[in-house]
Amino acid sequence: MAGSRRARGGRPRPALLLMLLLHLRWPQVAGAAGARWTGPGTTPHLQTIFLGRCAEQIALQNPELRQIRKNRDVRNNKVGKNCTAIWEAFKVVLDKDPCSVRPSDYDLFINLSRHSIPRDKSLFWENNHLLVTSYAENGRRLVPLCNVLYGRVGDFLNWCRQTNASGLDYQSCPTSEDCENNPVDSFWRSASIQYARDSSGVINVMLNGSEPAGAYPVKGFFADFEIPYLQKDKITRIEIWVMHEIGGPKV
Ligand SMILES: *[C@@H]1O[C@H](CO)[C@@H](O)[C@H](O)[C@H]1NC(C)=O
Ligand SMILES: *[C@@H]1O[C@H](CO)[C@@H](O)[C@H](O)[C@H]1NC(C)=O
Ligand SMILES: *[C@@H]1O[C@H](CO)[C@@H](O)[C@H](O)[C@H]1NC(C)=O
Ligand SMILES: *[C@@H]1O[C@H](CO)[C@@H](O)[C@H](O)[C@H]1NC(C)=O
Repeated sequence: MAGSRRARGGRPRPALLLMLLLHLRWPQVAGAAGARWTGPGTTPHLQTIFLGRCAEQIALQNPELRQIRKNRDVRNNKVGKNCTAIWEAFKVVLDKDPCSVRPSDYDLFINLSRHSIPRDKSLFWENNHLLVTSYAENGRRLVPLCNVLYGRVGDFLNWCRQTNASGLDYQSCPTSEDCENNPVDSFWRSASIQYARDSSGVINVMLNGSEPAGAYPVKGFFADFEIPYLQKDKITRIEIWVMHEIGGPKV
């Protein structure tokens, strides 16, 4: 699935750190050959990164989410996001079998972290994560999913529990090649659906015109979990930008 790269475009983890972790945590496994799954393992310091991004997003980019002012607003989930509560809702998936995590397992996480998306500012994309990230300017120009609180906290990260054991798997995590209901894909399905539902006005779409398989992936997060959930009545226009690499092929 082309879109699964959305969550996996991150830097490879330093091999040294990986070896160190293996040594500290699973000395009996350290000599075993090959990882169980095809995807990278859990990002080291997952909780710290998650909580830091959550706090940063709230403090710097979405001042309207910052303060818990009125109890009524808290109950209605309008203001006052609580990063601890959001993390606790998220981490239930870390106790589940790595091939048995469904999008609905993130419902409470989405409920607690969800906020409105400014009209005309949504930016959907496929196959150009880094371009989207820089063009969006941290949500100042446009607000792609990775600049929405619930997308930001998971951007470029990986997570999964070990098979048949408690504790995180830092060596590898399943991708759609291993099983459909893996923690990372289910997260992005759930987040994509919410993002599409909450988008309104002009819908911006950025596709990659240098992608050999074609700018519009017929199967991908945009086609499968975003387009079907757009709310027709709230949308005025769809603007599609096909960006090719400078000096690269224009497919
Ligand atoms: C945030 O959530 C945590 C965990 O649910 C809770 O213990 C804490 O009291 C909450 N903080 C506020 C300010 O509501
Ligand atoms: C999330 O919110 C929706 C709508 O407000 C509600 O129907 C659903 O039950 C909530 N889910 C959880 C897990 O709280
Ligand atoms: C667009 O696709 C090409 C070919 O797959 C790739 O080399 C390039 O990095 C992509 N552009 C962006 C901005 O991701
Ligand atoms: C996990 O546990 C089940 C049941 O005990 C067993 O059948 C399976 O082979 C185990 N899988 C791995 C990969 O250890």
